[in-house]
Amino acid sequence: MNILLTGGAGFIGSHTAVVLSQAGHEVVLLDNFCNCRKSVLERLEKILCKALPCVEGDIRDTTLVIKTLQDYKIDAVIHFAGLKAVGESIEKPIEYYANNVQGTISLLEAMKSSGVTTLVFSSSATVYGDPQYLPIDEKHPTSATNAYGRSKLHIEEMLKDVANSGADWNIICLRYFNPVGAHESGLIGEDPNGLPNNLMPYIAQVASEKLPHLNVYGNDYPTVDGTGVRDYIHVVDLAEGHLAALAYVQHHKGWDVFNLGTGHGISVFEMISSYKYASGKEIAYQIKGRRTGDIAECYTKVDKSQGILGWHSKRSLDQMCESSWLWQNMRNDSV
Ligand code: NAD
Ligand code: UD1
Repeated sequence: MNILLTGGAGFIGSHTAVVLSQAGHEVVLLDNFCNCRKSVLERLEKILCKALPCVEGDIRDTTLVIKTLQDYKIDAVIHFAGLKAVGESIEKPIEYYANNVQGTISLLEAMKSSGVTTLVFSSSATVYGDPQYLPIDEKHPTSATNAYGRSKLHIEEMLKDVANSGADWNIICLRYFNPVGAHESGLIGEDPNGLPNNLMPYIAQVASEKLPHLNVYGNDYPTVDGTGVRDYIHVVDLAEGHLAALAYVQHHKGWDVFNLGTGHGISVFEMISSYKYASGKEIAYQIKGRRTGDIAECYTKVDKSQGILGWHSKRSLDQMCESSWLWQNMRNDSV
């Protein structure tokens, strides 16, 4: 299939590009490079031994998206493009709704006018809010406490309406848990601008002595050791989840949603210990107060994605930390 990846030069998009391309799909990237470097294209070429076509532009440029869909005879779209920093979304809600919601409307208009009706959308476990029960299944009630989460919920609702509109749409929303790690080559990975917000990229920078210590946000949660527990998933497993979702969505009309995670919760202390083992470095940390908006514990029920998509995660926590450490050491090398 010919597949367009919006935001395809970003963290999850670039790993998915590798997996789809290696599975025999023709992959086209569309990215405005607002949160990634152009050097990712050379790195992808190095991994794949071929260059992937990449259109530089914004998904809100409907004319450009239409031209891209037609030029490359696109059969399906995976929609990664969006802004994703929770704190920033609270300060800049208009930018978040404009980019995420308006951007998706523009993409849908372009798809409709080009007759492309198959779409996989990057949603997030953030739409479950504070979990009412664990593990979280797809029927868990949804809610949002910030503009980022609400933009994901708005888009999901919009996609449901589009799928129910009587047209021929095949749409899947994938709710990712906590994607971490990097490609085994160490050539692509997560490349946050400035101070990392998320746990693993922060630990990676402590291990490489770019940051003095990790702040552990809370050790008094009702969890295994008092620290926050999350369902971390290797980004290559997540990328393989997109391959499975694509195979399914082609033959299923309407709208559906799947959680992508491992089903296992890992605490901050467990993550520190595993990263220390993978890197051979001390991870200095200080206990701080809880971070506003944080939840105690979150992990998915895997039955739906396993049963229907036939997909499950394969890579261990050690592999997540090892690949992150390799990427941390190689990311500044030029290719
Ligand atoms: P990322 O920032 O690395 O990738 C997003 C890409 O989209 C970037 O390359 C950026 O330049 C591009 N982009 C943003 N706005 C654009 C626009 N208007 N037009 C064209 N390109 C645009 O983020 P990621 O971690 O790869 O996340 C991909 C998707 O998955 C996002 O929608 C995000 O909300 C969602 N998600 C991510 C996580 C996570 O922890 N990384 C968790 C849940 C959901
Ligand atoms: C964050 C986002 C969420 C997004 C998810 C994946 C917030 C409030 N939520 O969630 O919307 O879907 O990332 O991208 O930002 N921690 C520390 N020290 C740190 C960083 C994190 O102790 O420096 C702890 C947190 O308190 C938490 C765990 O590590 O218990 C994971 O944090 P993080 O990686 O930011 O992910 P989420 O909180 O799940």
